[in-house]
Amino acid sequence: MIIVLDFGGQYSHLIARRIRDLKVFCEMLPFSTPLEDIIAKGAKGIVFSGGPSSVYSEGAPSCDPGIYKLGIPILGICYGMQLMGRQLGGVVSPAAHREYGKTELTVLERDKLFINLEPTEQCWMSHGDMVESPPPGFTVTATTSKAPVAAMARAEQSLYAVQFHPEVVHTPKGQDILQRFLFDICGCHGLWTMTSFLEQAVDEIRRQVGDKKVLCGLSGGVDSSVAAVLVHQAVGDRLTCVFVDHGLLRKGEAEQVLKVFRDKFKINLIGVEAHERFLSKLSGVTDPERKRKIIGEEFIRVFEEEADKLGQIDFLVQGTLYPDVVESGTATAAVIKSHHNVGGLPEDMRLKLIEPLCWLFKDEVRALGEEMGLPDEVVWRQPFPGPGLGVRITGEVNAEKVAILQEADAIFEEEIRKAGLYRKIWQSFAVLPDMRSVGVMGDERTYAYTVALRAVNSQDAMTADWVRLPYEVLESVSSRIVSEIRAVNRVVYDITSKPPATIEWE
Ligand code: XMP
Repeated sequence: MIIVLDFGGQYSHLIARRIRDLKVFCEMLPFSTPLEDIIAKGAKGIVFSGGPSSVYSEGAPSCDPGIYKLGIPILGICYGMQLMGRQLGGVVSPAAHREYGKTELTVLERDKLFINLEPTEQCWMSHGDMVESPPPGFTVTATTSKAPVAAMARAEQSLYAVQFHPEVVHTPKGQDILQRFLFDICGCHGLWTMTSFLEQAVDEIRRQVGDKKVLCGLSGGVDSSVAAVLVHQAVGDRLTCVFVDHGLLRKGEAEQVLKVFRDKFKINLIGVEAHERFLSKLSGVTDPERKRKIIGEEFIRVFEEEADKLGQIDFLVQGTLYPDVVESGTATAAVIKSHHNVGGLPEDMRLKLIEPLCWLFKDEVRALGEEMGLPDEVVWRQPFPGPGLGVRITGEVNAEKVAILQEADAIFEEEIRKAGLYRKIWQSFAVLPDMRSVGVMGDERTYAYTVALRAVNSQDAMTADWVRLPYEVLESVSSRIVSEIRAVNRVVYDITSKPPATIEWE
């Protein structure tokens, strides 16, 4: 395995991603990780990520210089190179001209890292500081017009560093450079697959759980579903899942989830039908934050009640993914955040967490889901918010509005699927704004709801762009919605990106 030490760079995730694409298992750890922990991981190589700081600024992130004596190959990238340069006695200084974007790289030495590079290559730069002269024993292996040391190496100790970013697509040979580091310098073999992950994860969960009992809050989304099936493979009937149907799910979703998990996977599954309970709490409430709080709190109540009925439970399964862990910063923060995922379970439950997916990205979880035989409807389901349609109905939420929105949403999804677009879109869904307007139907005046359609593409939901849906698709969705749902006489399409809007409407 490889460790990526994170110095806060905007591309740190991407480094981990690229390494995994080469079928080498990799973990990203904070720059401050103690050496003992790094040694205990048995890493074959370490990558220092980039970062926004200057190595000279106060409190700049740094690692224990003992790391260079471990005998583990290191590749420093951008800030990682400057840190290596400074810690080993080179000179780092602010660059007279910042280098940003596509840059021509002159390769001076085709060493193990650069063996497949041409004399000049394109690379992607993004830096203010630079290594002016390398530390003793280092060779300058590449240069650019503005950076005299664009790459350096001390091959005898397997220390390599590049000022540019091999992990981004704008460095066309970047993946080859990473591959040379992993395979030729660190001796990795690229054998990490979902099957090996699955076997390891099942063993690990068995060891962790022993003969104890495990609980899982199942939402039917891909993350919690894959986590549940994985844990079920490990501990069988000692796992019980709780699925809370708060009445704000999509049309037919609850029935589908219960059927798949009971029929196909024979998982112990408690389905709690709680429509009334949630809707009565939401009655008359229009403030979006209050709605969220009510749904969140009620969810915890139902979950706790069901957990109590099961007696002593020792473990709780969470479908936490790798980006969630990284975004939370530290392992401790990840645990706190995970508890929030199911709504902050009480301290006295003393549940220990099982998070079998916490090293995976979303697409890896989907690959694992396919490997375990989860049906496409689960594996490829678009993300759906915990509070469900509660964050897609503005104003008061009531049974009538939920029913209208479920119908409109089902029509939109059906047409999107028919057009072969469902898997290509991050999220596509209908929204019911709190407004009615006048229309005319069969010579009759109508005064009915407007449905808004939203379709966005995104990498991580932090930013999103609206999808340029074909007019024909919009047309068929619109005409079906107004003709099949009496309470709707107008359909609009949201053409706002995030920011300034958000993905959901609330
Ligand atoms: P916004 O609307 O903030 O949404 O742009 C970003 C992404 O998060 C999803 N979302 C949620 N997911 N619980 C969830 O599990 C929530 O409370 C929640 N609110 C928003 C949303 O669907 C989008 O993918």
